[in-house]
Amino acid sequence: MAEQRKSIHGQWTNRTVFILAATGSAVGLGNIWKFPYIAGENGGGTFVLVYLLCIALIGLPIMMAEIMLGRRGKQSPINTMAALAKDEQRNPGWVWLGWMGVLAGFLILSYYSVIAGWAMSYVFRTGGGLFLGVTADGVNSIFTDLVTDPERLMAWHTLFMVMTMIVVARGVKHGIERAVTYLMPLLFALLIIIVIYSVTTGHFMEGVRFLFTPGKIDGKAILIAMGHAFFTLSLGMGAIMVYGSYLSNKHSIAQASILIALADTVVALLAGLAIFPIVFANGLEPGAGPGLIFQTLPIAFGHMQGGTLVGVVFFTLLVFAAWTSAISLIEPAVAYLVENKGVNRIYASVWIGFLTWFVGLGTVFSFNIWKEKTLTIPFLFEDLTFFDVLDYLTANIMLPLGGLFIALFAAWVMKEKSTREELATYPWLYKIWNFLTSFVTPLAVIVVFLKAIGVI
Ligand code: PFF
Repeated sequence: MAEQRKSIHGQWTNRTVFILAATGSAVGLGNIWKFPYIAGENGGGTFVLVYLLCIALIGLPIMMAEIMLGRRGKQSPINTMAALAKDEQRNPGWVWLGWMGVLAGFLILSYYSVIAGWAMSYVFRTGGGLFLGVTADGVNSIFTDLVTDPERLMAWHTLFMVMTMIVVARGVKHGIERAVTYLMPLLFALLIIIVIYSVTTGHFMEGVRFLFTPGKIDGKAILIAMGHAFFTLSLGMGAIMVYGSYLSNKHSIAQASILIALADTVVALLAGLAIFPIVFANGLEPGAGPGLIFQTLPIAFGHMQGGTLVGVVFFTLLVFAAWTSAISLIEPAVAYLVENKGVNRIYASVWIGFLTWFVGLGTVFSFNIWKEKTLTIPFLFEDLTFFDVLDYLTANIMLPLGGLFIALFAAWVMKEKSTREELATYPWLYKIWNFLTSFVTPLAVIVVFLKAIGVI
């Protein structure tokens, strides 16, 4: 039964390491690259508010549920779901939830790696002094030059995938733990330096107003805000579940979850506060899309004292943040192959990595030779490129759906005795968690879905 299970992949050295690894998974391109650009595209204020509400009412309870499932199952999400369904004497069909998670992680990583490649190439652009004294038009054309060149994008994408495969192949202890311990705090410090620069632009309050003044919002934007809450906390696909499976039974899941969600949210808000003042100071467009940080931050680096150094360190840390997230995106699939096919981690990482790399080529081409090839699915989306479709399907559909079923499984399928064993360190907190996952979280996800497709 659950109490005696042991993970064959190892265990985190202590609670802090688990929190760092999970924060490493949560904090990534989602916070620094994606949050500002989708907040910009969806009008700021209300979007940010809905996002924060989703983090608190949907994300946090699901994070606790996911860590709990992982820790009880102690295996890859696929085998964990199978084992827990069996423990609870429920339908073995719940295993599909693990499969959907593995697929989502694989699809997300395929494009995540391409964008991480942009960040890598910006380390060198900044280091080479390309942005010294640059204008808004200048940064724009430097960005366009990069994304319209499929060969260069492919080269960076390949390099990033190889880096990810190496860490995953080395395993939980030696690979993941080391990478996160030093880098996360440094990223945080660098963001603060950029926010300080933003204060000096004279447009800081404009940025603050944009991010925090409520305005109008529609069903689609609410879905995007909710999807982003899942994406940014790495929920709904088994990444946090698999990290939970390496967590010792003696630690409080609630405390760890609150810390992880808090750190993740603070980094996203800092990124917003760093970027929007620069957008307004330079007459740029907040809704510029996926290129937003690459078209704003270099202006700051090109004009601040010591900007070249700050810029190089910043983009390097962004690559590290992406790296620690990428690892968690394929860990569920790799753990599954090791458990079920008897292969070693190196073999599993290389195969999954190669397949992911291949699908990633679709994203590479979305910004150049396939730019005009778009897909429309009535009621869901219009005119999206390959990259946009992957992003939409994973963040806005697969992750919320995965999260919804994780909440339902934890609250309604598992026996109360089992969930209490894992989560009732603080009885009052357990009660809140139970109420949220039983009613609020599932209902909220369903309502947002229905609103987005125009049913309500
Ligand atoms: N949370 C990561 C980010 O914000 O960049 C992305 C991510 C990692 C999403 C792991 C999903 C996941 F399972």
